[in-house]
Amino acid sequence: MNPTFETDRLLIRPWQPEQDAAPAFAIYGDPEVMHFIRPPEPSIAAVQQYLETIRTQYAALNNGTGSWAIIDKSIGEIVGGVLLKQLPDNNNNPTQDYEVGWHLRRTAWGQGYATEAGQVALTYGFDQLKLPVIYAVAIPENQASIRVMQRLRMQPGGRVFCYYNEELELYYLNAADFYFHRTSGN
Ligand SMILES: CC(C)(COP(=O)(O)OP(=O)(O)OC[C@H]1O[C@@H](n2cnc3c(N)ncnc32)[C@H](O)[C@@H]1OP(=O)(O)O)[C@@H](O)C(=O)NCCC(=O)NCCS
Repeated sequence: MNPTFETDRLLIRPWQPEQDAAPAFAIYGDPEVMHFIRPPEPSIAAVQQYLETIRTQYAALNNGTGSWAIIDKSIGEIVGGVLLKQLPDNNNNPTQDYEVGWHLRRTAWGQGYATEAGQVALTYGFDQLKLPVIYAVAIPENQASIRVMQRLRMQPGGRVFCYYNEELELYYLNAADFYFHRTSGN
């Protein structure tokens, strides 16, 4: 069972496919949001099917990884999604490398949601899952996502071609560095 998280501003909870399909379509059905990721979902029904599929997959893995809806509590709306999952290799098999990722609906860009939700996912990955390192990847042109990685104090790992069968910019954060900064408050 995946946990729910809360910050002052956000509720971050597992997707509920039936009730979330329409707001999730504003994210996963938007060609601009999906531009650097994959083709957009064609309909609300397709998004619901997608959310059901990933829910089943994460439940089967049962290793704490998952995909969550990000809700701004002040407006009571889903503004995006955040995930912590195993990176797939070039043949789409899960590796033992874990990635954090974020997707926001267009009207939610530029408000710090990805950084805030990403911080929650990193904290969960280190505190609860005891991961030694967490990665993030983006295609090199996706500067907004790379800026989020940098704001989260992730370190550049260079260009790699070992995940998703694509050349990607890799960032990583070691648990030791995460805890060092948390303790020092810097
Ligand atoms: C990636 C994403 C979550 C970032 O959202 P956000 O936190 O609201 O990011 P912002 O809009 O505040 O931009 C973050 C930074 O990137 C910069 N940026 C934004 N768009 C940019 C662009 N097209 N080119 C270059 N820089 C850009 C911003 O100036 C900001 O920089 P700063 O930290 O120096 O101020 C959001 O753009 C998104 O949902 N994109 C589509 C989904 C996606 O690509 N997810 C990542 C897959 S790897």
